[in-house]
Amino acid sequence: MTRNDHGFHQDMERLDDTPDNRSGNPDLDSRVRLDRRRFLRGSLATAVASVFLPPAHVMAGNTPSKGFSGVASGNIRFRPVPAQTSPDFDSVVVPEGYDARAFFSWGDPVVRGAKAWQSDASDSWQEQALQAGQNHDGMAYFPFPDAPDSHGLLVINHEYVNPTLHPNGFSSRELEDGAIQRPEAEVRKEQMAHGVSVIEVKRQENEWQLVRDSRYGRRITAQSPMDLTGPVAGSNLLRTVDDATGQKVLGTINNCSMGQTPWGTYLICEENWKNYFVNRNPEDFTSRREHHRYGISQALNSKNYAWDSVDPRFNATPDDSQPHHGHVNEPNRFGWVVEFDPFDPDSTPKKRTALGRLVRECATVTHDADGRVAIYSGDDTRGEYIYKFVPKDRYRPVNGTANANLLDEGTLYVAVFHKDGKGEWRALEFGHLGLTPRNGFHNQADVLVNARSAADIVGATPMDRPEWVAVHPVSRDVYVTLTNNKHRGNKPDQPVDAANPRETNLHGQILRWRENDNRVDATEFTWEMFLLAGDKPSAGSPEHLTGTIKGDVFSSPDGLWFDHQGRLWIQTDYGDDEPRNANMGTNQMLCADPETRQVNRFLVGPRGCEVTGVTATPDGKTMWVNIQHPELSYPASDGKTRARSTTVLITKTDGGVIGT
Ligand code: FEO
Ligand code: CA
Ligand code: CA
Repeated sequence: MTRNDHGFHQDMERLDDTPDNRSGNPDLDSRVRLDRRRFLRGSLATAVASVFLPPAHVMAGNTPSKGFSGVASGNIRFRPVPAQTSPDFDSVVVPEGYDARAFFSWGDPVVRGAKAWQSDASDSWQEQALQAGQNHDGMAYFPFPDAPDSHGLLVINHEYVNPTLHPNGFSSRELEDGAIQRPEAEVRKEQMAHGVSVIEVKRQENEWQLVRDSRYGRRITAQSPMDLTGPVAGSNLLRTVDDATGQKVLGTINNCSMGQTPWGTYLICEENWKNYFVNRNPEDFTSRREHHRYGISQALNSKNYAWDSVDPRFNATPDDSQPHHGHVNEPNRFGWVVEFDPFDPDSTPKKRTALGRLVRECATVTHDADGRVAIYSGDDTRGEYIYKFVPKDRYRPVNGTANANLLDEGTLYVAVFHKDGKGEWRALEFGHLGLTPRNGFHNQADVLVNARSAADIVGATPMDRPEWVAVHPVSRDVYVTLTNNKHRGNKPDQPVDAANPRETNLHGQILRWRENDNRVDATEFTWEMFLLAGDKPSAGSPEHLTGTIKGDVFSSPDGLWFDHQGRLWIQTDYGDDEPRNANMGTNQMLCADPETRQVNRFLVGPRGCEVTGVTATPDGKTMWVNIQHPELSYPASDGKTRARSTTVLITKTDGGVIGT
């Protein structure tokens, strides 16, 4: 946290410390574009598909029949690393026989013509617009078909910004009326340090390199033009003084986790966008569920960059003198899944409104052999819900362009977890389950913009902050991290229940479920607890801090990903300075066997960091992991020492598969 003379402060590392579900809801029990590049024609669809299919030896003979057992996890044979408890630990440690090196850091050149990063943070906003943003988060590797394991595009989210962005931190001055004024150059630079980077990566002579001046190098920022598509596009709820059509929007912000489609596109997710907007009219705020149900700011607060003092569209206070009441609807244009094709640097990203408006952590895609698709999302706030979107049409692997608008039509569901281990998906469809004018819903656009309020009405189960979702590549069992929830059992709308079983849940849990008949579009499922995070019983911690982990302990699971061989990778985001986390050391990445539930610590990060974002080449021999907001000066890719979020490259010294 930093604080300046005027009390304008930021607690960046607690941006995820989001308020409760305010509904009072009780627990009711690429498109492969054929015209893209001639040399890819006809082959990319196959290559992309291979990323999502496990090798033959994993497929063979191990299709589960019932329960959650019998799922091949592949070999997990590395020697776990110990927790790092030293207060000035400032490195990344991986097991013996593995290499980890800094690969891509905040400020590194991305777009052709970008300048080298300045270690005093003196780069202008125009320079930042061509360089890597801050706070690397979710990411995905897209292979080139001719050399999938040694040549690809890496797409990386930049979630938010730290005071390190500027030479002397964030600055501001207080105006006579008490409002805060930020310098324009700082706000512009902050906006350019948000969004996504696309970089081309290539292994040459056994060494992975970032390809400089690549034609694919791209930055998507808080100002990049995008289309709004799907059922809400053009609706009154999306119109503003700047965009009377309700179909054009600038930028994406607070991009946390993500998704990757089998048709070759990347799904950017918009998480804590609500913190960037302010509505200073208390009456309007109270009556406008699009604002209050999502926790839009009512005044400058610790999570607000005061961008509205420079860029009026972040001021969502209604202004009746302007068309469409000014920018009051601007917050309705965030919280979506944004789809884009990384292989087409000129393409316009599309905000897919059919998937609903959430404080969206992730958009994890799975599909079955018949091309039915499901996309899972967590809404990361205490007491919020887990969602599934099923497109109306099927994914067609042979005709890439057929999938271009697959995400514009379909059904959005929300999860209900019953105590008997059964669960159901309830559709959020206008006219059904109480989503009617009597409850304030007049059409499907209303339902999707107010997805949280719709989920309240249909009786969704309030969860302990749903973060990432991962789907096993063979069994299609679905796993979700519920990172923590200090209010569980302490607030009437968040009672202890079977899926959220611990009062004052400071360590979190991982749940898993299987869709009925193993159909991705099922409306019922069977679920169970995979593990409760926390100390071992032998550590003598109080009951609510004691977990069920078999193996290495951790708190607050967040990132979650299955590799192509079926190993489950868990990444953590907890305060490593909290006494209750003393045994866990610094934040970490662990590898879990979905069958035995054994958890082995694979990587530890520097003090103060969060470990978030992981991807690998199809052969599993190269992995990238993001180290977000290291506190000290963890070495960046060019060795310069201002603390920088960094993508770390991991390989095995013997050239083997990571995790073995
Ligand atoms: Fe940005 Fe919910 O983590
Ligand atoms: Ca996260
Ligand atoms: Ca988190």
